[in-house]
Amino acid sequence: MAALDNHASTRTAPLAGSRSLSRFAPGTLLVAPSILSADFARLSEDCRAALAAGGDLLHVDIMDGHFVPNLSMGPAVCDAVHRALPDVVLDVHLMVTEPAAYIEPFAKAGAGNITFHVEAVSDPRPLIDQIRALGMTAGLAINPDTPASRIMPFLSLIDLALVMSVHPGFSGQKFIDAVLPKTRAIRDAAGPHLWVEMDGGVGPDSAPRCRSHGANLLVAASAIFGKSDYSAAIAALRE
Ligand code: DX5
Ligand code: ZN
Repeated sequence: MAALDNHASTRTAPLAGSRSLSRFAPGTLLVAPSILSADFARLSEDCRAALAAGGDLLHVDIMDGHFVPNLSMGPAVCDAVHRALPDVVLDVHLMVTEPAAYIEPFAKAGAGNITFHVEAVSDPRPLIDQIRALGMTAGLAINPDTPASRIMPFLSLIDLALVMSVHPGFSGQKFIDAVLPKTRAIRDAAGPHLWVEMDGGVGPDSAPRCRSHGANLLVAASAIFGKSDYSAAIAALRE
């Protein structure tokens, strides 16, 4: 761990815009395999396979055991994926109580987009500014029980709104349909340029409903890494 951490801390150059969401044309449909359900024993090979199968970018779930009742991974793992796949956009989703402590470590670890939760901060604007100043795109996430009104004042300041469609913490949960009207309200308020990301329980059954309610960035862990044919699994999300 120490060796990996040291390696990450040597990378100080700001990220190029091309590794952020600005790589992609607004309004297109993106599929982001979530590496939470990848095979950690062969992480880079599994990531490469998901990208070769049609994944556009990789979603990296960071859990601190406080904001959510689970631990996942830290900057060293993100850095390892970045070193194996340096041109791939890494979409870091911070499910942590102190996002301010992790912006710079994940920037150094190769993040292209960082999303943090609106529930974790009193004012998201300084962190949005910090993420942008480091050359990344910035996202705000809301939990299933959080009303859209919490994120609405900030839509013009962010690149991405992440709507949690499960209670965060674990992959493999059932999609919560009750978040769909909120997703539509965010899309209608933001217009076409915001990335609206749906995360949790997204699979072939729920993906059409996500898209018809304005989501255009679909995260999926178990619906991709839990299947034997990644290409068919990703194609099914786009249909
Ligand atoms: C859940 C994470 C999700 C998770 C999705 O807390 O934020 O990104 O990986 O897993 P699935 O697609 O299996 O619901
Ligand atoms: Zn996530």
